[in-house]
Amino acid sequence: MENLPPSNRSTDAGLIARYGDYLPVPKSAQWISLNEGSTPLVRLHTLCDPGRGIEVFAKVEGANPTGSFKDRGMTVALTMAVHDGSEAVICASTGNTSAAAAAYAARAGIRAFVVIPDGKIALGKLAQAMMHGAKVIQITGDFDDGMEIVKSMPTEAPVALVNSVNPFRLHGQKTAAFEIIDTLGKAPDYHFLPVGNAGNISAYWMGYTEYYEARKVNTRPAMVGCQAAGAAPFVSGRPVSNPETLATAIRIGNPQSWELAQQAREASGGWFLASDDDAILSAQKFLAHREGIFCEPASAVSVAGLITALGDESLEDGTTIVCTLTGQGLKDPDTAIAQSPEPVRVAPTLTAVRDSILD
Ligand code: F0G
Repeated sequence: MENLPPSNRSTDAGLIARYGDYLPVPKSAQWISLNEGSTPLVRLHTLCDPGRGIEVFAKVEGANPTGSFKDRGMTVALTMAVHDGSEAVICASTGNTSAAAAAYAARAGIRAFVVIPDGKIALGKLAQAMMHGAKVIQITGDFDDGMEIVKSMPTEAPVALVNSVNPFRLHGQKTAAFEIIDTLGKAPDYHFLPVGNAGNISAYWMGYTEYYEARKVNTRPAMVGCQAAGAAPFVSGRPVSNPETLATAIRIGNPQSWELAQQAREASGGWFLASDDDAILSAQKFLAHREGIFCEPASAVSVAGLITALGDESLEDGTTIVCTLTGQGLKDPDTAIAQSPEPVRVAPTLTAVRDSILD
């Protein structure tokens, strides 16, 4: 370890430190890390069904440094971008990728350019990209338009594309599957997760498969890809133009990792399903009210999907289920406040406060 750069010491608890043997990061690379990963796997008491022997856990990815799973991909993508001599990174984003790219680029001391849909990005995510000093470019189009633009950028420039079409992103994100197995001591039987651009479902499947091939486990879960009804190309089987959903993070009609996600579904014996915005918001509220977990709407689509599947009995008894909650609820305060009762407003007296409690 003596010859490694200062950031590669054992006090660094990020993903590359923990799972470096499974990552394509050369020993000589200086890690760009914010000690991401090691997120909680929380038992969802209210969704477990002891009668059927069903156990349900949430992988709470909002606990990552920038509040979403994107940090897992970004530590590897930025480490490799810097290692390969890039002076900047670029991405299209519905918000979380831009927040993570901006933070990790700041950490690396290089520039970030982020292309976002005008007006359709949660406020917290925009604040993050701005605060980390990214150049924020709002286009009067959607994520799919932005993706086409950044993909066709000339490659001569020393600018790395850090969307999930960058294979290093998926390598970083697959570590969530490792953590789940390391915590549970086995693979779950079903894994529910939100699907937008489809990088994450592909990454999880890669992670489960690598541990399976390394004989750490002898099973892999069925991957259940959960989409918003207004942006559900995997459910309809073809790209969707003008995707629309309140879950802006997954407002995507033309997913880039189409083939990989289809392979994951097929090889795992999984399926895709869609939930409408009302079901997504009620799952988000359910998690916040009943489990104490505040996730963003796009994350709640995994639990909305699970609630549907539990109701229609498409899951076997005696099984363990994991839902990924991809991002922190604080990123989208507008949606949270819009669906909650307004605070009561009273005079600053004991009587007034007591009356409002008793009301
Ligand atoms: N959940 C959240 C909170 C997300 O931000 C995203 C994607 C997804 C789920 C879907 O993951 O794209 O790998 O299928 N957000 C991207 C972004 C598109 O730009 O932040 P995916």
